[in-house]
Amino acid sequence: MVVVHNGIVENFLELKDELTSEGIVFNSDTDTETIVHLAENHKASGAGFEEAARRTFNQIEGANVVLLMSIEEPDKIIAARIGNAGGVVLGIGENENYLASDIPAILEHTRKVIFLESRQMAVVTRDGIRIETLDGQVVQPEIHTISFDAVSAEKGEYRHFMQKEIHEQVRALTDTLAGRIDFKEGRIRLPELKLTPELAKRIQRIYITACGTAAYAGMVGKYLIEKIARIPVEVVIGSEFRYSDPIVDENTVVLAISQSGETADTLAAMEEGRRKGGILWSIVNAIGSQAMRIADGYIAMQTGPEIGVASTKAFTAPLVDQYMLAILLANMRGAIDEKTRRELVADLRLVPDLAGRVMDTEAEIEKVAHTLKDIRGCLYLGRGINMPIAYEGALKLKEISYIHAEGYPAGEMKHGPIALIDEEMPVLCLAPKDPWHEKMISQIQQAKARGGTVIAVATEGDELVKGMADHVLWIPEAPWMLSPVVTVLPLQMLAYHIATIRGLDVDQPRNLAKSVTVE
Ligand code: G6P
Repeated sequence: MVVVHNGIVENFLELKDELTSEGIVFNSDTDTETIVHLAENHKASGAGFEEAARRTFNQIEGANVVLLMSIEEPDKIIAARIGNAGGVVLGIGENENYLASDIPAILEHTRKVIFLESRQMAVVTRDGIRIETLDGQVVQPEIHTISFDAVSAEKGEYRHFMQKEIHEQVRALTDTLAGRIDFKEGRIRLPELKLTPELAKRIQRIYITACGTAAYAGMVGKYLIEKIARIPVEVVIGSEFRYSDPIVDENTVVLAISQSGETADTLAAMEEGRRKGGILWSIVNAIGSQAMRIADGYIAMQTGPEIGVASTKAFTAPLVDQYMLAILLANMRGAIDEKTRRELVADLRLVPDLAGRVMDTEAEIEKVAHTLKDIRGCLYLGRGINMPIAYEGALKLKEISYIHAEGYPAGEMKHGPIALIDEEMPVLCLAPKDPWHEKMISQIQQAKARGGTVIAVATEGDELVKGMADHVLWIPEAPWMLSPVVTVLPLQMLAYHIATIRGLDVDQPRNLAKSVTVE
């Protein structure tokens, strides 16, 4: 038997004890080895390959994806998705079939795919795919046709996927708006969300749940939905949601944000929302992923596949998605008048161009990156709607450059982090022209007064900031509610360049995974 395994066999010690007591000798301490022995044991007791595989899958607990091959039937692969484990994509080719964990891996071979559901197994041969539940019921799978262009899964002219994906945001943001906005009438269309005025009116609370970068996108969403639609929003990290006994009822939305749609903690949070009878929504990039399928309604990010481990375009797209969602909710609930709605919608048209103008400043950002390449740490400060951008900017730096960075609400600086500031601790201040601009100016003054190097993200023409900061990363003037889409871009590029100058592998930073499909 040969096994491919992603996940953790939670009951492996029990299973191992049983096998050992039957005289089976283990060669390693891994849980994975248990799977092989289980399957071989079933075969030894007379089961055929498929039956042995099924019995094995039924014994495994926890979130796991398992693929099995047998030396006796080398033309067959049996795959199973057990629990809320990462994806299994089955690609249908001509006289050939594929198994992968994600779509980009097989795009160059086929676009016809089947997604394996939890507790299903697939028996795959050259000329057929048969799907059954782990209880042996035959399943008629839905075949999806993927429209991603294979070329977009390649690096093209860029050095790294991350750099390519940063630049792709201009297109991704255009696609995010395409078909969803009627600029003439000032209206938003998000049909997959299945939102009706009746539903919109009865919503009393929204929980946004996500992990990592997606959670920071959710924090911006909280501002937008509360400000525009006047619905209370709480953001709860995916790994905490199910342990916090959230107050969910039939008038509560649980909105999950996820690039992969397969992050175990985010899926577990969605399950908790389902269990408590809430309305389940998701904003997801990976078409057909679990977070998309189990939701009552969803918004598909239109970014195309994201390969770089550090998320970039799957951060900015959900910012715009949540802005559109806020307008849609506000309109249906009567929380905004027509004039405001039209103005908010009209502002959206600026977004791709604003992003494109930041891309044009890359050479300047790279110069600043050279001056910062040897820093040991950095504080990122922001306020209001740009506070989550301080968190996200700091996360980008630590993920790929391994420099410690801390994002902080600027107003909290005096309650602790100010003690860190000296000549060796630079401070990055998000100071665009938004309602918190004056407050940020005073933060810059305080940081300078303590000898810190200040890098500011500021709006073109802001002479005040220019006169105070050591380096300025310029952004074009943007409507403040959409400003996070713009302010985060120089921070992505800054982190990217600092990491590449340090010679690091930005696409696959150490210890990190693109999607964390186990708890
Ligand atoms: C991992 C990735 C992050 C990502 C997070 C959530 O930690 O390295 O870039 O933000 O997972 O992933 P998701 O697919 O749910 O957005």
